[in-house]
This record gives sequence, structure tokens and C-alpha cells, in this order.
Amino acid sequence: MTAAGTSANGSLSFPPGFTWGAATAAYQIEGAANADGRGVSIWDTFSRVPGKVSRGDTGDVACDSYHRYPEDVALMASLGLQAYRFSISWPRVQPGGSGPVNQKGLDYYRALLDELAGHGLDAAVTLYHWDLPQELQDRGGWAVRSTAERFAEYALVIAEQLGDRVSRWITLNEPQVSADHGYRTGVHAPGLTDDAAAAAATHHLLLAHGLGTQALRSVRPAIPVGITLDMHPVRLAAGTQSDLVEAARVATDAELNGLFLEPVLHGRYPEHVRPSLLPTPEVIADGDLETIRQPIDFLGVNYYSPIFLRAGDPDDLRRDEEPARCQLPGVVEYGPADLERTPMGWLVDADGLYELLVQLSDAAPGLPLYITENGCAAEDYVDPDGDVKDVDRISYLHQHLDAAARAIKAGVNLAGYYVWSLLDNFEWGWGYQRRFGIIFVDFETQRRIPKASARFYSEVVRANAIPPYSEMADSA
Ligand code: FCB
Repeated sequence: MTAAGTSANGSLSFPPGFTWGAATAAYQIEGAANADGRGVSIWDTFSRVPGKVSRGDTGDVACDSYHRYPEDVALMASLGLQAYRFSISWPRVQPGGSGPVNQKGLDYYRALLDELAGHGLDAAVTLYHWDLPQELQDRGGWAVRSTAERFAEYALVIAEQLGDRVSRWITLNEPQVSADHGYRTGVHAPGLTDDAAAAAATHHLLLAHGLGTQALRSVRPAIPVGITLDMHPVRLAAGTQSDLVEAARVATDAELNGLFLEPVLHGRYPEHVRPSLLPTPEVIADGDLETIRQPIDFLGVNYYSPIFLRAGDPDDLRRDEEPARCQLPGVVEYGPADLERTPMGWLVDADGLYELLVQLSDAAPGLPLYITENGCAAEDYVDPDGDVKDVDRISYLHQHLDAAARAIKAGVNLAGYYVWSLLDNFEWGWGYQRRFGIIFVDFETQRRIPKASARFYSEVVRANAIPPYSEMADSA
């Protein structure tokens, strides 16, 4: 069988060679904030601002994976995983974001890569997962062009020093979130609320992706390079179509998805985006869009939840309605009553993943896609048997893996899946109040307890297939 198919016992199978992994990010798991010469990141600063992170949590200790990585790698190996997506903390390897390199920081990542190789796990390395060196922020952060140039220098260092052990590079994680949450709404570091800075950050993040890709390839031409985008299918419930709602769908898709996807794939900013979201002409230098449009070897897709639109009055909202972010009149976003929500308030909609993968496959025919994050928060607790029976997460994963398998069957070139996350960790503004791991972390003791979802996922990985729902219920 070359594509996904249904086996005799009804399980949906994945193609041979499909990559199964788990994902994390440096600031969310490493801790060791002051160890071995690490510099300060914008999240160290931001998490100390009262009111920014739930309960005043910080990533100072997190999962202490900086010290406990052998245990974490062994756990992945015991589950049969094939690949680990982790990020490198820029301030750990280059404390000021430019200039001198911190050898001890590099040594840590080399040791982690060795440990992975020793267990037969591939490394998918994200160069930037939101933890900008504070010194670069002090010089303007992503709102200034020089940060993109510094990123390319940092990428070169990483490619030279660590590239011999890496299976694939991901330049940036979710630049849409960096620009929007970091510079426009201010709910993430650096916490700015400045539309012009957000639009400039959008461009400089994209430029960093292009320059970084060139830098990585200049040293390691054979290692695949891609970028991870958060993708949000914009959906209309049956029977709610109208010209107005369709216009809002196009605008919302352009502002959330196209703003990053079109420059990367086609070297242009999309139409149908409010001018305030677009970088001004002074920000875009000659040749930038060509630089941004480097051929990529794959696209990383983070999928959690879709957006639904329907006709409505933003000044007179019904239950489950919110003003539409595209701000077109007569249209609202809403949560269909038949869809569940996770503790993040995010809608659970696996069909959104299917639709998204098919759309991306049409937009970039043949380009390998990886789901670089997918998963859910759940109300996890250790029961009296010492077990974490996270049946909601198993159900979420089952539905989304099923959607992924269906997309492959429909011809989508999906090459791998990384569950978010390996471990419960520091969930940004939510601190430790939201658990996304397939492995429970007791943050008092740092004890790791694989949840029922880890056992479920391990079965999927080993079979390269999703068991039928009834078998799955037994594994919880
Ligand atoms: C994504 C982030 C990741 C994690 C998940 C829940 O947007 O990339 O770090 O926080 O959401």
C-alpha cells in the first residue's frame, strides 16, 4: 500500500515511511534559565511583568529538560517515536543575539542530538520558537530589520556547529503569532500593542525565514528546510453562505493564513488584507520578497482549531458569537453548538484539519506537508492508581489522525505528524495551568507519568495505523 488505506480490521493505515514524532519548544520545557551562560530572552522579561502570565509562572524551571533530557529522550524511545521536534533557545547559544557564541549552550544541544541519535530518533530543529534574546528586543526586536539579519547569522552558527546531526530545519514557529500576539494584542512577549510595529514585525519575521533558509543551505545544502505556520481554516456552516460571509471568509483567510503563506510560497502579500496589517513600502526593501520566497522543502502546519463565520451583528452578539476579526460589517465568528471546546476554549473540529490539508495541497501541489503540532489541553490529573486517563485527548487525537489519514487518501502529500506536546509544559500566557502533554509532569517533583494518550499514540506509531475506535477505548 503506498497511500493511506483501510486494513482488514477496519484500522486506517498510513503510508510506509510516514514520520511519527512529538514536539516541544525550548522556553516551554528547558528551565535552567540561568545555567551555563544562557542570556535573557523576551519571555524571561515578559513572564516577570505582573499580570502577563497566569499565577505569575515563568519558564525558569519548567520541565527542567535541560538537565533531564536523557529521561525525556528515553521516554520517546520507549513509546516507539521516530522523531523529536524541539527548538533551540537563541539566547542559550548566543546570549546577546549577536556576537559571541556560548559554547556551553551549544554543548547542551550537541548532547541532546547525540542522545537522540543513540536512540535512533531524528531531530527536527526549530531555530526560533518565540524566545528572542532580550538584547535584540532592546534594539527594536522584530519591528526592525537588523533582527532578521542577526537571525541569519545565528542560523549560520547553528548549521555549522550542530547541522551534522539534524534531519530537518524549521526556521520559525508560527510567525503569525509572534507578530500578532507579541506586537499587536500584546498577550505574548514582548507585549506591545502597536499595529505599525506588528506589520513591520510580520515582514521582518518573513525576511528572517528567507535569509535564514539561505544561511542554513549555504552550510548544509542537503538538509531539508521549511517553516511552521499556524493555519486556521475558515469555515462556513452549511446554509449560511452569502456574498458578505464569503467576503469575510476570504479576508479572514488572507489575514491569518495568506499573510504568511503567500510571501513564503509566491513572494507576494495577499490581496484582501486590511492595509494596517501590511508592512508599509518603506519597510520592504528591493528584493525582499524574492528572498522570502526561497524554495522550501516542506511546510510545517500547526493545527488546533478552525474559525467559523456567519451573518450576524457584531454590536448585538448571540451566545457563542464574537466580533469577526476581519471587521467586515454584518458578519460574526461563532462556535457551532455541536462542537466541543477544549479547556483553552478552542473548538474541536477534525474536519477543519482535513479541509486545511486538502486546501494546502491545492495551493502547493506536491510540497511535502508535516503536521508539526496538533493536540489539546485537557483537565488531566493523576488518579488513585497513579494513572492519567486522558480520554478526551485520546478522542481528540483519534479524530485528528483519522482526518490526516483521510487527507492522505484524498491525495495530500502528508509526510509526518508531531503531537503537541511530548510533555506538559509552560503554556505561555497560561503558565502551568494548561496541560498539553501526552506525558504528565508533576512540576513539584519533575516526575514524568506517561498518560493513556501516550499509550494510545505509541500503538498508532508502532502499527503505522489508527486502531478502530472500540479498540482505542480499551487502551484508556
Ligand atoms: C502553539 C505553539 C506551542 C503551544 C501550542 C499549544 O501555538 O506553537 O508552543 O503553545 O500552541
